Amino acid sequence: MRKYLIAGNWKMNLVPSEAKKFAKQLVESIKNVDKDVDVMIAPPFTALDAVAQEIKGSIIKLGAQNVNDNEKGAFTGEVSADMLLDLGVEYVIIGHSERRTIYKETDELINKKISFSLKKGLKVVFCVGELLSERESGKTNDVVKTQVVGGLKNISADDMKSIVIAYEPVWAIGTGKVATPEQAEEVHAFIRNTIKDLYSKEVSDNITIQYGGSVTDTSVDGLMSKENIDGALVGGASLKVDSFTRIAKFQK
Ligand code: PGA
Repeated sequence: MRKYLIAGNWKMNLVPSEAKKFAKQLVESIKNVDKDVDVMIAPPFTALDAVAQEIKGSIIKLGAQNVNDNEKGAFTGEVSADMLLDLGVEYVIIGHSERRTIYKETDELINKKISFSLKKGLKVVFCVGELLSERESGKTNDVVKTQVVGGLKNISADDMKSIVIAYEPVWAIGTGKVATPEQAEEVHAFIRNTIKDLYSKEVSDNITIQYGGSVTDTSVDGLMSKENIDGALVGGASLKVDSFTRIAKFQK
């Protein structure tokens, strides 16, 4: 059955020398996690190489925070899938709310990035989630469904094996305001059901759906005890060795 994925999204933090030291400490600290838990960290592009060297041979997998949807060429400032793969990157985060809201990424662009990344052999952490105003006006399910359907357009059932969905309510990201396990579970069950309608029961039973938004070492256990919550995408608390280690070693 499906595995848990505990992932650290470092965002725009840590210069390469800091990232290298931090990764070394994490490798020491995160050794014995349960067999059914995968652990991934996504440093900024500039630190990927240094971090890749440190985590080599450990259980920690490497992720990137963004990717371009073209093979290569005149795309100033962008980073290609091949560039990431060459550094040992296995996962890429796509559709994060900061990319949707600050950089205006649309469902269409997110879908192109997902398709291209899968074609290249990257695994994708595909993020969805509603704004506070959307939750308050009762639109959570509609918004999440539009994002899921738009992002997964023309993605095959077979490719779904390489996708993890991260449900991240935007009002919970970086705010210290974590969704309750019940609030999160409700949306996770809805997403799983949407995947069942789009694909099949088998695909929906097997897909990992992470929760993200102010997850800490104290909130993780309650969230992970829910049937449809299969891991966490962690921002702030992934920048502290002790917190991230405790999150990776959550108790159900
Ligand atoms: P946070 O970030 O844990 O700091 O809320 C989560 C995320 O943006 O993935």
